[in-house]
Amino acid sequence: MASIESVMHEQRVFAPPQALVEQANISGMAAYQALCAEAERDHEGFWARLARENVAWHRPFTKVLDQSNAPFYTWFEDGQLNVSYNCLDRNLQNGNAEKTAIIFEADDGTSTPVTYRELHQRVCRFANALKSRGIKKGDRVVIYMPMSIEGVVAMQACARIGATHSVVFAGFSAKSLNERIIDAGAVAVITADEQMRGGRALPLKNVVDEALTLGGCDALHTVVVYRRTGGPATMQAGRDVWMHELSAGQSEQCEPEWVGAEHPLFILYTSGSTGKPKGVQHSSGGYLLWATLTMQWTFDIKPSDVFWCTADIGWVTGHTYIAYGPLAVGATQIVFEGVPTYPNAGRFWDMIARHKVSIFYTAPTAIRSLIKAAESDKSIYPTQYDLSSLRILGSVGEPINPEAWMWYYKNVGGERCPIVDTWWQTETGGHVIAPLPGVTPQVPGSCTLPLPGVAAAIVDETGQDVPNGQGGMLVIKRPWPGLLRTIWGDPERFKNSYFPAELGGKIYLAGDGAIRDRQTGYFTIMGRIDDVLNVSGHRLGTMEIESALVANPLVAEAAVVGRPDDTTGEAVVAFVVLKRTRPIGEEAKQIATDLRNWVAKEIGPIAKPRDIRFGENLPKTRSGKIMRRLLRVIAKGEEITQDTSTLENPAILEQLKQSL
Ligand code: WTA
Repeated sequence: MASIESVMHEQRVFAPPQALVEQANISGMAAYQALCAEAERDHEGFWARLARENVAWHRPFTKVLDQSNAPFYTWFEDGQLNVSYNCLDRNLQNGNAEKTAIIFEADDGTSTPVTYRELHQRVCRFANALKSRGIKKGDRVVIYMPMSIEGVVAMQACARIGATHSVVFAGFSAKSLNERIIDAGAVAVITADEQMRGGRALPLKNVVDEALTLGGCDALHTVVVYRRTGGPATMQAGRDVWMHELSAGQSEQCEPEWVGAEHPLFILYTSGSTGKPKGVQHSSGGYLLWATLTMQWTFDIKPSDVFWCTADIGWVTGHTYIAYGPLAVGATQIVFEGVPTYPNAGRFWDMIARHKVSIFYTAPTAIRSLIKAAESDKSIYPTQYDLSSLRILGSVGEPINPEAWMWYYKNVGGERCPIVDTWWQTETGGHVIAPLPGVTPQVPGSCTLPLPGVAAAIVDETGQDVPNGQGGMLVIKRPWPGLLRTIWGDPERFKNSYFPAELGGKIYLAGDGAIRDRQTGYFTIMGRIDDVLNVSGHRLGTMEIESALVANPLVAEAAVVGRPDDTTGEAVVAFVVLKRTRPIGEEAKQIATDLRNWVAKEIGPIAKPRDIRFGENLPKTRSGKIMRRLLRVIAKGEEITQDTSTLENPAILEQLKQSL
């Protein structure tokens, strides 16, 4: 709440520079309001116009929005298109063939440019390669790859042949990968031998092998391996093939598979309120439209821009703002393999200067860790680099605290670049609430106003609008083309999680709390209202981590909560009851280390608890419910002032307060 209050009292307002306003794709508040008014007047007509203007349709749509099976809304349903065609072929036709599509910078600093023509050839060759393995429209393909041109090629090639990809972040464990391969019913995995991060080689193919040994991947027949390092990779005859061998000799032409607008382009697993990740399913037509529009609106993309989104293709940000959006608008973009702190914490600033990046999009957690580094080593301070190419900065993944916002604005943007604080989610496909760089006066810490056509609002538990200045649940009241279509294989969970009956079953519940400013109506996000944590901009379900802990033979019971953290936003704190007596001293430390490694193995290193506390029991109500609100207070190291009268065993609170 502290940072919300500081935002609510935030007096600083930063108007966009006049020169930027004049050139902007949406220029000035009146232009923004005109778009909002158009959407208000004729919701379907508005989206139909934009879909005709911005997407190349193989067969034009005649239907716009179908609400007959709400909340399973469909958009442009009888239209046909191909997303890869829109991202690549269209650029060959409109004069961008020799334009640089991607500048890939490897961990060691080597950079490789690729033109749209070359990218098109590589995607076509690989698409044909996938077809040669019998992979076809409707099949699911899991991608477990490092940040690379090949990763983008793999995603685009799937799109080209109508296969639905599911990218699994290459930091997830074999167990998590195995569960996702099974849930998606994947026929193939595309991976690499290893990945390079911060000068170290980390295995990928070995993890895939381990995932497949865990069993249950019955549909899988192919593993394609990109040779990144030449490091160890055991190839199983018949099943495993090298990407370069499979692509060699394939034609550079590949007729795109035309698919219906609602054809699932991808599934992306994300954490929810239960132990099992949700396979968020996106469409082809509506998703592409939203990726395109938000590139134009929020990033104000121009032909001369050099765009850099630092996200990984394993997250939705890397889908929309690396693999699809920038290519759909014919932009030049940076794809970066490494980490922000290698060879030193000036890497981002150095890269911006060398590549003349004009739009830079990163996460608050990265900014905060780079602030720490720069404040202690002035030689890597952003002002030591020539950042004059920058014109727009962006932030995503979690609320950005006003202090970090100001530092970013001053030291990176030189007080001339608007910061677009973009609120969105895996489920929304692209930005939903965000300042427009040529329109919106920015207030540090606020994501400001909804994009045109997005009916964002804040309601109470009964679905009634709350007045400005009062917190509530963030909802979106009308469907728009970018929204997820369902949860893969679980339409019931889709309905219950996102369109709860208590709110009438037709409005989208985002899962975040928010508040609007009394005067400006600006939105400020207060964080998740469900059992989801946000650690370094990554969504982690508390239930997921709890199930992982309880799966350990030593553990009887576990409860996981978040604790505010200066760098990572939130940190994972686990309260654990063992099957044996409560450990103390060195032994407790050892078991905590083992449990941390266990969680890394079960889910991935990002989910490792920062802090583990052991108790003989957990605080529960007489009806047996774990009192998480008390655990949150304990995790913060604060005194419990709340009512504990319903608590069955108050003594255990003392045990849980003791850190190791
Ligand atoms: C949080 C990432 C405040 C929010 C694109 C949301 C934000 C969750 C912002 C989605 C922002 C994302 N300000 N909070 N600008 N952007 N969030 O699915 O809690 O990985 O629900 O998508 O991140 O995380 P996801």
